[in-house]
Amino acid sequence: MAFLSDTLARVKPSPTVAMTQLAAELKAQGKDIIGLSAGEPDFDTPDNIKAAAIAAINANQTRYTAPDGIIELKQAICAKFARENGLSYEPSQISVSTGGKQVLYNAFIATLNPGDEVIIPAPYWVSYPDIVKLGQGTPVIIEGKPELGYKITADQLEAAITPQTKWFLFNSPSNPTGAGYSWAELKAITEVLMKHPHVWVMSDDMYEHLAYDGFEFCTPAQVEPALYERTLTVNGVSKAYAMTGWRIGYAGGPVALITAMRKVQSQSTNNPCTISQWAAVEALNGPQDFLVPRAEAFRRRRDLVCEKLNAIDGITCPVPEGAFYVYPSITGLLGKTSAAGTVIGDDEAFATALLEEQGVAVVFGAAFGLSANFRISYATSDAVLEEACARIAAFCDGLR
Ligand SMILES: Cc1ncc(COP(=O)(O)O)c(C=O)c1O
Repeated sequence: MAFLSDTLARVKPSPTVAMTQLAAELKAQGKDIIGLSAGEPDFDTPDNIKAAAIAAINANQTRYTAPDGIIELKQAICAKFARENGLSYEPSQISVSTGGKQVLYNAFIATLNPGDEVIIPAPYWVSYPDIVKLGQGTPVIIEGKPELGYKITADQLEAAITPQTKWFLFNSPSNPTGAGYSWAELKAITEVLMKHPHVWVMSDDMYEHLAYDGFEFCTPAQVEPALYERTLTVNGVSKAYAMTGWRIGYAGGPVALITAMRKVQSQSTNNPCTISQWAAVEALNGPQDFLVPRAEAFRRRRDLVCEKLNAIDGITCPVPEGAFYVYPSITGLLGKTSAAGTVIGDDEAFATALLEEQGVAVVFGAAFGLSANFRISYATSDAVLEEACARIAAFCDGLR
């Protein structure tokens, strides 16, 4: 009898974490490493949010709560959905979890049966296919088009839907490309979904507030209200409020689904950290004015990185609408040999050689299901980004 489960054998560890670890090891050896692989803002959690957490501790808000969140936070989430997304939810339709990741996990564990398919556009956030596999489901990957900034078309979605499709997983702005779907682009997608009433929609809106150049964020249940009854709208405080370590994510959806998700959570982690929940109440109800200057700082960094990368022979970098990632293509560099003699056979070889020879840690595209590319997280200072781009240029110039 095998000790480890067959389900676990189908799942791989996170490649982004592996790359970040390799970079940390090289750094510990005294090497001069620039890390561009982590998916979190470099800003601090705003002071009013930290103060709310401290006040919660002092008020002895330190006990168990309802498994899927305190009523005050559910009300703040309902207000947020109404204010920012034009979506009307009751507290009974809200689930709060230990990060957006657990929201997705709960939803898939609660709904997937063996053979159920989940359509995932690639490149995708590394965890999507593996969470689906943990839930015994089958990921069905459709590849975004480079000429559309790696977005998918309605025709591609139509062709991927089968009687076994349970979910369509949508993420805009995207990790890893930063691509955001406009209202018209999303409308075309929702029109396909309207033809297939058995398909549910999971919208991962985690990067909603990180959008640039006037890009107007929209979410499926808003664009097509008739999808509301079969949509789970997922969001969280991690990225927008620089609260990755606080671990609060949430979702709005039909009561039956939310109740099923609560059951999963009540038999695993139970409630998300009580103190973090009170901090999240302040994040959502408190002042929102810092979001604009932070987004503006990200936009400036995006422009800097895209400009520098597009100036390098063999690299093509679409300018994305949001998030804090870019996803340049290295197709023009494949088959070349680096200064230290590594053949750039694929994007993993590129990322490894770039780290070893120039000390820049990025994540290779295969990790996100679409090659030959790499992902840069530009959530770091302008000076670090300038230096990183100079090193990438030196590496590419050295290829023969
Ligand atoms: C697209 C996407 N969804 C969800 C998450 C999960 O966020 P959280 O930190 O709230 O679990 C991430 C985190 O990197 C992400 O990039």
